[in-house]
Amino acid sequence: MTPPGAPSATRLWGGRFSGGPAEALARLSVSVQFDWRLAPYDLLASRAHAGVLHRAGLLDEAELAAMTGALDELTEAVRDGSFRPMVEDEDVHTALERGLLERLGSLGGKLRAGRSRNDQVATDLRLYLRDHARQVATRLVELSEALVDQAEEHVDTAAPGLTHLQHAQPISFGHQLLAHVQAFARDVDRLRDWDRRAAVSALGAGALAGSSLPLDPAGVAAELGFDAPFANSIDAVSDRDFVAEILFVLALAGVHLSRLGEEVVLWTTREFGWVELDDAFTTGSSIMPQKKNPDVAELARGKSGRLIGHLTGLLATLKGLPLAYDRDLQEDKEPVFDAIDTVLLVLPAMTGTISTMRVRRERLAASAPDGYALATDVAEYLVREGVPFRDAHEAVGRLVAWCVEHEVDLDEVPDDDLVLISPHLGPGVRSVLSVQGALDTRSAPGGTAPARVREQVADLRVRLDLDRAWAAS
Ligand code: ARG
Repeated sequence: MTPPGAPSATRLWGGRFSGGPAEALARLSVSVQFDWRLAPYDLLASRAHAGVLHRAGLLDEAELAAMTGALDELTEAVRDGSFRPMVEDEDVHTALERGLLERLGSLGGKLRAGRSRNDQVATDLRLYLRDHARQVATRLVELSEALVDQAEEHVDTAAPGLTHLQHAQPISFGHQLLAHVQAFARDVDRLRDWDRRAAVSALGAGALAGSSLPLDPAGVAAELGFDAPFANSIDAVSDRDFVAEILFVLALAGVHLSRLGEEVVLWTTREFGWVELDDAFTTGSSIMPQKKNPDVAELARGKSGRLIGHLTGLLATLKGLPLAYDRDLQEDKEPVFDAIDTVLLVLPAMTGTISTMRVRRERLAASAPDGYALATDVAEYLVREGVPFRDAHEAVGRLVAWCVEHEVDLDEVPDDDLVLISPHLGPGVRSVLSVQGALDTRSAPGGTAPARVREQVADLRVRLDLDRAWAAS
């Protein structure tokens, strides 16, 4: 660290100041410990900017060649770790300018023409996030594939369908797994939608007002893979919607992971006993030799908290910020980097947990009709027989109460008692008291009938292929 008050060779604003910053300010201000990961993107943007300066007549042919050569060298040095930031650099942009000055002498100082760290950081962060949104999408597709594979295996596995965590109606276990895939597919869809709005370059906005130099924001945007340059230079450097939006997408994906995690936790309890997890994705206890804990699912659930926190934290930072750039905006990076890191950490572990879990189909099938889960089928049978649903509901309610009192199942009620319970009831109700029948008849689009679930598997596979292709783009 440069001693307080000392001039610095690398500081960007020496001219007007009689001394260097106080140590307390420097320590507060430094961001290079977390923004260094933007270095490869900053270098890409610098290369594009060098081309702009050349086309504007501000770098001659030889200067451009030297500049490009030095940027190549610096890119390599960043990659192999031989060029490292120093705390005195303050941020990634300053560190890389030092790297250029070390290689080019005063020529290195020409690259800053027409460019401010304000438009640089906004552009770098967009590049970084567009890249990482694709990595997140790839991992989401992999988790979805693991779920679809399990679902396909268990299209015909009957399971209890729950509402309020109480037995409601029998379902295909595959249908339940695919419900999670629908959520993750929407997450990928949201990333793709986000990407359209994030595909805007801020380069050329300068500090806030644009530049008097003949820059080429559209050319530079295209070169960096953006769809368009900024429409308003003030907005270009002040806007962090793209950070807030992706934090929301990541927080919601985290919530989806948490809900799946919660189900896995429940499913593996002795009380449920629906699935058994592979040893590789469980942990033991230091004191209880019998324990096998679903830590991946719990960490997925737990980490959703920090993802939600990052979103609300950034919104609080943005609220009340006057235009254009304010240093508060530097607070956008740590939350969004952590959100990306967190999701990229959880997803592969969850994918492994799901793809290796063993579903105990007999146990699921045996408990599918528990809790009088076929009562709705009896009521709907009566409706088909012409009974108003209100009366059918009442009759079946009395039937269930009778069964509870006599501790029997719906199909164990003697014929004579059926008519005593309600004149609407008769031996005919037995025709619908089968789990398989309950599944097969729920065959309207999107329902749990195995034929519909198989179609859903096929549709999702097509969708996942398209999403995978986008994520590789
Ligand atoms: N490191 C800053 C950030 O992350 C960018 C630099 C802009 N600083 C400034 N004083 N204009 O937002």
